[in-house]
Amino acid sequence: MIRKFPSSRFTSLLSAAKPLRSFACSSSPAREPPLCALFSEAKSSPTSNTLSITPKTPLFLRTPSHAAPLSEVWKWHDWAKDLASSVEHPSTDPDDSLDSAALLRELKWLIEDSIIDDHPVIHRRETPNEGEQSVKLRASLEELYDLWRQRIEKRRPFQYVVGCEHWRDLVLCVEEGVLIPRPETELIVDMVEELVTGDEWFKKGIWADLGTGSGAIAIGVAKVLASPGKVIATDLSPVAIAVAGNNVRRYGLEGMIEVREGSWFEPLKDVEGKLVGLVSNPPYIPSGDIEGLQAEVGRHEPKLALDGGIDGTDCLLHLCHGASRMLKRGGFFVFETNGDKQSKMMVDYMSNDLKDTFSDLKMISDFAGIHRFVTGFRL
Ligand SMILES: C[S@@+](CC[C@H](N)C(=O)[O-])C[C@H]1O[C@@H](n2cnc3c(N)ncnc32)[C@H](O)[C@@H]1O
Repeated sequence: MIRKFPSSRFTSLLSAAKPLRSFACSSSPAREPPLCALFSEAKSSPTSNTLSITPKTPLFLRTPSHAAPLSEVWKWHDWAKDLASSVEHPSTDPDDSLDSAALLRELKWLIEDSIIDDHPVIHRRETPNEGEQSVKLRASLEELYDLWRQRIEKRRPFQYVVGCEHWRDLVLCVEEGVLIPRPETELIVDMVEELVTGDEWFKKGIWADLGTGSGAIAIGVAKVLASPGKVIATDLSPVAIAVAGNNVRRYGLEGMIEVREGSWFEPLKDVEGKLVGLVSNPPYIPSGDIEGLQAEVGRHEPKLALDGGIDGTDCLLHLCHGASRMLKRGGFFVFETNGDKQSKMMVDYMSNDLKDTFSDLKMISDFAGIHRFVTGFRL
């Protein structure tokens, strides 16, 4: 079951809708054998904070411990449809309005996640006494009323309502405190996959995903590596660390991904100069733009994941400097940016202020043709 959100919805951080750009990587110079032994020496030290955070169970993974007569479920469904259909389209700000058609699609997904086995029963009302049959649910009807109200009245993102997001071939647990991974970020994994295909040095080396959030990129990258390839996933947010760790466990990738709490390169001291790849989708929204974000994003997603400082480039610039220290010669990096202006600024900065540090600096477009990513290799 892969859910794709239409590009115009829930995508204030991004844009979408163009075929994947071609991406050519040059082969890397001067390579040393990967020092994977170092990985096992590098023990993460989760703080007591992290240990005390238990990630929430998404709706689709809950046990179906509730039941209700089908007639009551029909009543809820009719109410939910009416509420979705009644949303207005304020002409003043079409980017920040709710869309009935999209909500009805989400309602269908909410039903799929909450009703066990035979969810088509909700649409079938053939005989009057059919309503007496009992339906098994993963949430009480009371909670379903509440969740749908939160979605529409509080503009709580659908992904937080159901507790998961479908991203690439993954279904990732998400909750408040963790950024919902966006479709264009999938391109980072596509780039890594293209690079490592047929290239053992990249495929079996140590990678880092900085600001891992739900662990989306780290998990996507780990899945295209081969043993003894590893990914170290870091984040400053204890909630992100707990959620990423949970997603890593759910995909059985504990042997390939180590999740470490801390700020950017601080938890990576033991692998300085030893990474073959560095990937990051850091916070890059200019501080002044945060207030104008779509309600679902601005009101509910963590500021720590969004705010990139005055012009949005604080974290990106920090990452550029770190990449020069952390990567082996020939190592690859890809950073996501806010778009054309930031990407160009990063390439100019790395070509001039960090002259002779990187090669093959490129701006890579997203589905909408916006220069969303900056890539390059450590000289
Ligand atoms: C835009 S989100 C990206 C999350 C995830 N990689 C994704 O693409 O869905 C940026 C992430 O950086 C993290 N972050 C912010 N400041 C950080 C710091 N100083 N050190 C490490 N991570 C940080 C946030 O907690 C957030 O998870």
